[in-house]
Amino acid sequence: MGAHAAWLVRASASNLIFTFFIFLSSAVISCGEGDANALLKFKESLVNTAALSNWDPSKTPCNGSRANWNGVLCSNGHIWGLRLENMGLSGFIDLDSLARLPYLRTFSFMNNDFTSPLPDMKKLGKLKSFFMSNNRFSGEIPDDTFAGMRSLKKVYLAHNNFTGKIPSSLASLPKLLQMRLDGNHFEGQIPEFQQKGLRIVNLSNNKLEGPIPQNLQKQNASFFSGNKNLCGPPLAQCEAARKTEAPTDTKPLKIALIILAILLGLVLLVAVIIIVIFIVRRRMNQTELLRQQSSLGNQCNTPTPRTQLPPAATIEHVKSTRKVDSMKLSFVNKERDTFDLQDLLKASAEVLGSGRCGASYKTLIMSGEALVVKRFKQMNKVGREEFHEHMRRIGRLNHPNLLPLVAYYYRRDEKLLICDFVENGSLASHLHGNHNAEKPALDWPTRLKIVKGVARGLLYLHNELPTLALPHGHLKSSNVLLDRSYQPLLMDYTLAQVINTEYTHHLLVAYKSPDFLKHGQLTRKADVWSLGIIILEILTGNFPTFYLTQGNTNDVELMAWVKSIARENSEVFDEEMRNTTNSQAEMRKLLKIGLACCEESVESRWEMKEVVEKIEEVNIVDDDQRTCSSPFDSVLSAIPT
Ligand SMILES: *[C@@H]1O[C@H](CO)[C@@H](O)[C@H](O)[C@H]1NC(C)=O
Repeated sequence: MGAHAAWLVRASASNLIFTFFIFLSSAVISCGEGDANALLKFKESLVNTAALSNWDPSKTPCNGSRANWNGVLCSNGHIWGLRLENMGLSGFIDLDSLARLPYLRTFSFMNNDFTSPLPDMKKLGKLKSFFMSNNRFSGEIPDDTFAGMRSLKKVYLAHNNFTGKIPSSLASLPKLLQMRLDGNHFEGQIPEFQQKGLRIVNLSNNKLEGPIPQNLQKQNASFFSGNKNLCGPPLAQCEAARKTEAPTDTKPLKIALIILAILLGLVLLVAVIIIVIFIVRRRMNQTELLRQQSSLGNQCNTPTPRTQLPPAATIEHVKSTRKVDSMKLSFVNKERDTFDLQDLLKASAEVLGSGRCGASYKTLIMSGEALVVKRFKQMNKVGREEFHEHMRRIGRLNHPNLLPLVAYYYRRDEKLLICDFVENGSLASHLHGNHNAEKPALDWPTRLKIVKGVARGLLYLHNELPTLALPHGHLKSSNVLLDRSYQPLLMDYTLAQVINTEYTHHLLVAYKSPDFLKHGQLTRKADVWSLGIIILEILTGNFPTFYLTQGNTNDVELMAWVKSIARENSEVFDEEMRNTTNSQAEMRKLLKIGLACCEESVESRWEMKEVVEKIEEVNIVDDDQRTCSSPFDSVLSAIPT
């Protein structure tokens, strides 16, 4: 070990981490067997284990970060989590066996049939989260069940049959962030929760009574609803408090006012000092940033091959640099604050695509959510504060046709943006990919619905972000995702504000518009132009190939594409739309709108508002009176998830 250590110290920072993981994985074989035995022992106390039939002692549960056994979550050959959900399991939960898994930090038994009392959780002192909602767990929970669980952040016990008081050991967990006890039969008073960071404390639909403790009074009132005898803020005032509200005499009031004045003076003084410090530090940060940018070089111009780095290694790299900044993810939507960066890094990632300036990964985190992590390198156009500000602004956007940003991660030379994974893939894959029974060609009503959704999403961005030069800036068919009912969701919007200027030209679709190529200028109408291209693409089923050329698209080429469509007029419609004889007039209407959006002259091109009004007027006239979504619903429900 001594020789090892000396060698490690000499290695560079990233090598060090990499070596460390190789070192860890070489140790895997020795502990795999113990893990397998512990899990098999654990399984013995479960009933109805059909779903765990591949827990086979002849294979190790983990192979690196891949699991050989159902429901086991692995990282570097270690079991860090168990996810046994929706398996019809019952019996009892043998924590003594689980305690033999040294790396276990989280488990979920949600949506099963357990009826036993809650086991003595403190046996797993290192647990960070556990999820046991939607079972029939019952009985009282002893007061010290959670004693000493210093890392526990998330406790999900909702929708069970627990009775008795809320254990006080739960109220004193130092790290608790989320707790769901809703839908049980808890009774008595709520204990004093001491945590400052508590975000979700769902106690609704129980039999709790008495005043809501001070620390919880700022929480959402819905967390306490459905408890007949709870009172005090944020609910109605308590009876007792109302009676004791007596007239106060004025002398203490005067003293209080004097104290208040003194305090105010002090606060002002401190504020001035903080502002001065802040300004000085900001100056220093900016000079640092300039230095970094000049050393960034030209990395972005060379396309990265698809098989760049194995995903684990890439994510590992993020891990290795974590000491520079804290590992904190910034959530733009507090209600979604259900995971931390470690959860993302531990989840096994699947590479979805690797673009010129970043890659995206799909990861599945503990609570069962699938997320997409997009990694950007060239996002240093603005400083830290402005970046946070921009992300918060994006986070406030809310429209059924926008893919919401869930969270982001900021480091000076690398940003991660995190969104939900959308099951049905991109519009581009539906238009240009292979079709089969599970993925039929889009018919006319669906295509029209998609166009309308895209247009509404764009109009919303234009209305909500009146000061931005490019409210979307990167609209193309591969950036339009489709949900299960074929509603479009726009993604990668408003990036122009944060991507380094020298890269926006190569990367963003708006820069391929005639506005920029011909006149060297961009206006908000560049989004109208991109919408026009999408409409033409949807109607013709043709891929606008000029999107593939990097940077130096010439405007002749792209206008030729548009003009060829205009020339052929009604012959251009995609044959795969099927049964469209009665819809020809409406389709031509939409085609005209698409062509008008691609008007070369920016002045005579419509405004977004006008375009959307025109699009809304196009109707579905359909041969067999089908509605927009129904043709797919039956197909979709048959697809296993
Ligand atoms: C709180 O619990 C209620 C009842 O189970 C549920 O409807 C609501 O969505 C929960 N809220 C959160 C934020 O978990």
